[in-house]
Amino acid sequence: MRKVWVCVGGAVFFLSCLVLHSRFCGSLVSRTFSFDISWREKGPLFRLDLGWPKNSEYFSGATFCVAVDSLNGLVYVAQRGENIPKVLVFTEDGYFLRAWNHTVDTPHGMFVSSTPYEQSVWITDVGSGSYGHTVKKYNSLGDLVQVLGTPGKKGTGLNPLQFDNPAELHVDDTGEIYIVDGDGGLNNRLVKLSQDFMILWLRGENGTEPAKFNIPHSVTLDTVGRVWVADRGNKRLQVFDKDTGEWLGAWNNCFTEEGPSAVRFTPDGKYLIVAQLNLSRLSVLVAPPPGSIGDCSVISTIQLADQVLPHLLEVDRKTGAVYVAEIGAKQVQKFVPWHSRTPAFGA
Ligand SMILES: *[C@@H]1O[C@H](CO)[C@@H](O)[C@H](O)[C@H]1NC(C)=O
Ligand SMILES: *[C@@H]1O[C@H](CO)[C@@H](O)[C@H](O)[C@H]1NC(C)=O
Ligand SMILES: *[C@@H]1O[C@H](CO)[C@@H](O)[C@H](O)[C@H]1NC(C)=O
Repeated sequence: MRKVWVCVGGAVFFLSCLVLHSRFCGSLVSRTFSFDISWREKGPLFRLDLGWPKNSEYFSGATFCVAVDSLNGLVYVAQRGENIPKVLVFTEDGYFLRAWNHTVDTPHGMFVSSTPYEQSVWITDVGSGSYGHTVKKYNSLGDLVQVLGTPGKKGTGLNPLQFDNPAELHVDDTGEIYIVDGDGGLNNRLVKLSQDFMILWLRGENGTEPAKFNIPHSVTLDTVGRVWVADRGNKRLQVFDKDTGEWLGAWNNCFTEEGPSAVRFTPDGKYLIVAQLNLSRLSVLVAPPPGSIGDCSVISTIQLADQVLPHLLEVDRKTGAVYVAEIGAKQVQKFVPWHSRTPAFGA
């Protein structure tokens, strides 16, 4: 057992390393919330970047989601609350740039798709006001450029397409869009849209059987053409073929305590990072090879303090940094790969 006191900028942080059942286990206490990182095999994969953001007072509401423009080094955060900016834009170094709140009612999920020609910030909005029940696309300055769904009106329709509490979306490099609809509303479905917003395929209805959902809460793609959905209420991840929508399998065994609320891949495609909201836990899972997905295996966990409540997260495709939107702690935290050069305790 080792205990180290680290002093940074006048604040004192406690760092300990305990040897538990697995060979290694580490724990840190940060400025606001303590957390533990435990791991098997290769040592820890991530550490908290206490230098991000530079000024946390910009978090003035409940921070529901975060998205990263890795091409331009920008981090977008959406938060809920009265009379506050709803979308905050930071640099990846943690400097605040700008904010907006027009046409954003109750943000839930977010995704940035960025090419050298266009930066797009997509937001799912679960509000019941005049901008709610939509999936909206903004440019990086906050100008509204596209609205999907029927603003202010929840529904199950497909023509025109309607949403009820759309939870999250993923836009791939070709511009095709995967939307999980939704967060406990009328719909429990995964919809794939073409670049020009035509429905290519749709899976799901309410239920526990394969390819049915109960609160499909988060969606992402892997590098081999599979769509991964955090089917939170059914306590599983479900996997589909990206081209056909065919069901490829499900993982239940890692989520007996609580369903996953967020799912993402590391940039090398080797691991998944999953959040469990009420457990305040992040887990690193081994990504399966192409084909059958087999069983779920956790190689590492980051146990956040009670009531931090990690809701959704994003991984920077360039640096591998993980940004976690914590609705309980009302902040976004940045975890960086253990061997990256960013200082662990800020500067
Ligand atoms: C928008 O944000 C500003 C602060 O940036 C705040 O003063 C204003 O009340 C907000 N508007 C709404 C409708 O929340
Ligand atoms: C979906 O089914 C579950 C139980 O299977 C039920 O609790 C829930 O209310 C249903 N949701 C909808 C939208 O029908
Ligand atoms: C978390 O706990 C709250 C309050 O007990 C509950 O309403 C919610 O459904 C839980 N969420 C999950 C994902 O289990």
